[in-house]
Amino acid sequence: MSFDLIVKGGTLPDGRVADIGIIGENITAIEPSLPAGPAKIVDATGNLVSPPFVDPHFHMDATLSYGIPRINASGTLLEGIALWGELKPLLTHEAVKERALRYCDWAVSMGLLAIRTHVDVCDDRLLAVEALLEVKKEVAPYIDLQLVAFPQDGLYRSPTARQNTIRALDLGVDVVGGIPHFERTMADGTRSVTELCEIAEKRGLMVDMHCDETDDPLSRHIEQLAYETQRLGLQGRVAGSHLTSMHSMDNYYVSKLLPLIAEAQVSAIPNPLINIMLQGRHDTFPKRRGMTRVKEMQAHGIRVGFGQDCVLDPWYSLGTADMLDVAFMGLHVAQMSSPADMAKCFDMVTNVNATIMGLDHLGLEVGKRASLVVLDAGNPIEAVRLRPERLCVIARGKVVAERPRQETRLSIEGRPAAVNRRHEAT
Ligand code: FE2
Repeated sequence: MSFDLIVKGGTLPDGRVADIGIIGENITAIEPSLPAGPAKIVDATGNLVSPPFVDPHFHMDATLSYGIPRINASGTLLEGIALWGELKPLLTHEAVKERALRYCDWAVSMGLLAIRTHVDVCDDRLLAVEALLEVKKEVAPYIDLQLVAFPQDGLYRSPTARQNTIRALDLGVDVVGGIPHFERTMADGTRSVTELCEIAEKRGLMVDMHCDETDDPLSRHIEQLAYETQRLGLQGRVAGSHLTSMHSMDNYYVSKLLPLIAEAQVSAIPNPLINIMLQGRHDTFPKRRGMTRVKEMQAHGIRVGFGQDCVLDPWYSLGTADMLDVAFMGLHVAQMSSPADMAKCFDMVTNVNATIMGLDHLGLEVGKRASLVVLDAGNPIEAVRLRPERLCVIARGKVVAERPRQETRLSIEGRPAAVNRRHEAT
């Protein structure tokens, strides 16, 4: 077999050392050793070779807008929403598109090759929807971009959100979103979950709802989301994003809730960087962490990914498009410190997130798409610890980003000249 490209000698996440043979856009062989022939070679000896990073929760219409027109002084979710409301009338098609494309460049450089972005439909111009549909087409050769119709100001609370959600879906937006905890009443929130799930069922679409992103222990829209998923036969196609109220819920109620979520096969997408930053802001001390119950859901067989949510926007003043930052924060806040849990955090920001988004073509297996990342790390746990350089990023069989291994040059008498923070066995 003659390959176009071989990624040679890398360590796979499961510990195997192998050559990965690529023809066209697909992985066609994974063997201990492949004959090079005329193939282009990427030398991954001693480095981790991983499936691409996947972000199942992002806001690409708001990214890289930090400081426009001002910063979020209180640091709360609600001021962030108000600030976004001030920014929205200032948006232009060109500016949204330019920022989104710039962010996609960052993403590629970090090996982030699939992103689900919510796009606010509460602007009658649907300017961001149209801009991001264009971006989706332009980045398709290297990024899987999924769009969610997101009625940021509330499906019923905003007078035109309902019709704009339908318009956005008609334009080709992929997923149905919602924000039940931001509706005027609990009852309206419940009703919005029902109607949005019915829309998804009729159109054969997935659902991804901002759900219970609040410290209010009585915010229980996830219960309705699980119920509607079950009733409408949407199992495996629905995700609840954030679910932060679950952090504060009564433990007895949670013991009933978790099996219902598991039964409905609703996935959970906490966003650790943003949850730890925005939640608990009304607390004095002790101050709640505000991240949902990650390990407890996993123990019930619920699929849990980690999303990034925000980079440099009205809600978050930092961010680099690095899903390993997300895994690192998630590991800490959820106290996932055992070796198995640390490795799981890496799996969450790669394979699990891809499954949540329904991207069956991603993964390090023969027959899957040749999209992968070579990292300056020896294994997944070290990758989370170091958040190291992405030495080579391959998308659909083509090298799309490369960067050299970074070492610090030391000038200390009696010490080696270079330091690399890897913990390599000698
Ligand atoms: Fe979000």
